[in-house]
Amino acid sequence: MTTLPSLLVFGATGQTGQHFTRLALEAGHSVRALARTPSKLAITHDDLDVVQGSMDQVDDTALDALLEGVDAVAMMVGDVAAQSTRKVNTEFVRQLVPAMRRSGTRRLLYQAGGLSAAPGTRLPLPLRAVRSTVARSYIGQHEDNEAVMRYLDDDARDVEWMVHRAGIGADGPSKGELRRSRSWISIGTFVDCAAYDLRMLGDDTAVHTWDGSRYRRA
Ligand SMILES: NC(=O)c1ccc[n+]([C@@H]2O[C@H](COP(=O)([O-])OP(=O)(O)OC[C@H]3O[C@@H](n4cnc5c(N)ncnc54)[C@H](OP(=O)(O)O)[C@@H]3O)[C@@H](O)[C@H]2O)c1
Repeated sequence: MTTLPSLLVFGATGQTGQHFTRLALEAGHSVRALARTPSKLAITHDDLDVVQGSMDQVDDTALDALLEGVDAVAMMVGDVAAQSTRKVNTEFVRQLVPAMRRSGTRRLLYQAGGLSAAPGTRLPLPLRAVRSTVARSYIGQHEDNEAVMRYLDDDARDVEWMVHRAGIGADGPSKGELRRSRSWISIGTFVDCAAYDLRMLGDDTAVHTWDGSRYRRA
């Protein structure tokens, strides 16, 4: 395990990010967050620093300031409407990784989805069917997540990145502890995915993986 006292969070106002931010603060991390609408973040804490802004509009100087003193970055970001026309996350990660190199920030956690295929792999047939039917409005988001993974794999192996290909069903109480899994993706709750993301961030064995997560059997 690696200790990462200071975190920078993108997507802190989102369904996973709100839980992640609260859990990180409860675990003793200090958290800086970039948020388009800071008032959406229903958390106040002495160790939480919320900076107003959008990933679309952050220049390198602002990004360097956000990364100052930060040990690791967590991204739980999505904007389905924007991602249907543009690979917003990929563009941002391509800007973020060089900034992480400049600041010496070593670790990046990126939350993608279980319907996003890892580089060089094909989704199993049932998941391909779901993606092209009931989940077809999210195709832009999955294609963006896939482009992020390809970029990290091809051009950013010097960074300690890890991708969580999450399968989230709904918000709600914890259903148990998620564990990393190559073969199966459980339908988790946002709070369980956030707790998993936080554990995985410090887990050295998760570096350069893009696994799913599965509830531990009782
Ligand atoms: N939701 C699911 O069921 C599900 C399932 C599996 C995987 N995932 C993956 O998990 C990730 C996060 O999903 P989620 O459902 O937790 O997120 P979400 O509730 O949709 O929230 C997305 C977050 O990203 C932020 N964001 C989007 N564009 C931004 C920009 N340009 N600048 C700054 N912040 C921006 C949003 O800020 P605002 O509050 O300002 O909008 C929000 O905080 C996505 O990659 C998604 O593919 C989601």
